[in-house]
Amino acid sequence: MTALADAETNAGTDESASGMGEIPSFEVTMRLERFDPDVESPQARWEDFTLTMHGTDRVLDALHKIKWDHDGSLAFRRSCAHGICGSDAMRINGKNRLACKTLLKDLDTSKPITVEPIKGLPVKKDLIVDMEPFFASYREVMPFLITSGNQPSAERLQSAEQRARFDDTTKCILCAACTTSCPVFWTDGQYFGPAAIVNAHRFIFDSRDEGGTQRLQILNDKEGVWRCRTTFNCSEACPRGIEVTKAIAEVKRAIVTRTF
Ligand code: SF4
Ligand code: FES
Repeated sequence: MTALADAETNAGTDESASGMGEIPSFEVTMRLERFDPDVESPQARWEDFTLTMHGTDRVLDALHKIKWDHDGSLAFRRSCAHGICGSDAMRINGKNRLACKTLLKDLDTSKPITVEPIKGLPVKKDLIVDMEPFFASYREVMPFLITSGNQPSAERLQSAEQRARFDDTTKCILCAACTTSCPVFWTDGQYFGPAAIVNAHRFIFDSRDEGGTQRLQILNDKEGVWRCRTTFNCSEACPRGIEVTKAIAEVKRAIVTRTF
């Protein structure tokens, strides 16, 4: 045995002797809503998978385990696995959450954990929805800096107070958890939805931007901010802790007062 291998073996023995490194495991049943568009008369159905998981595992780890060890046909989106890309929003035990930010041990594992696609968007397969209607609304509010005149030769400066006006809404990762938790969006697919308004807010209140009036006109539409019924579902669903309902209220006020 080499000196290195010997050292590694001893380190492993010490660790198990002290009980360090042992992560408690438990059984959990994942109840997933499945939908296969390629079968005759496709219909959503529930399917259970019972797994042995650990205290550090997240819902995303359970989905990986199912896909890799039990059923490779399971379809879901994920990319970063760390709450940044916004691609794995789903309904977990009836609430919109990111699968990569939801620890199994924080849920009631004595009962099956239900996982469904987010609501209000067409389901493509299993937990994957068609995000195009969501991004169409996002594009409509022109989520980019609009300026006139020549390009400046240095940064467009703003004060800390000016930056603070839209700081909260810069945190959006476009996961759609807010929009797809909104009862108005469920019943009226035309409503812009909270995420589009959040991203309009991010530019409307930016002192460097000159497109605020245009965006307010767009959101003053019958499918715009006035459809919001202030149910606060959106603020509760947001994994970034953005005060979504407050942002919507600020946009409503700006439409009425034209101050922004
Ligand atoms: S506001 Fe929050 S919930 Fe809505 S899309 Fe952005 S990050 Fe997701
Ligand atoms: S996988 Fe990127 S936010 Fe969850």
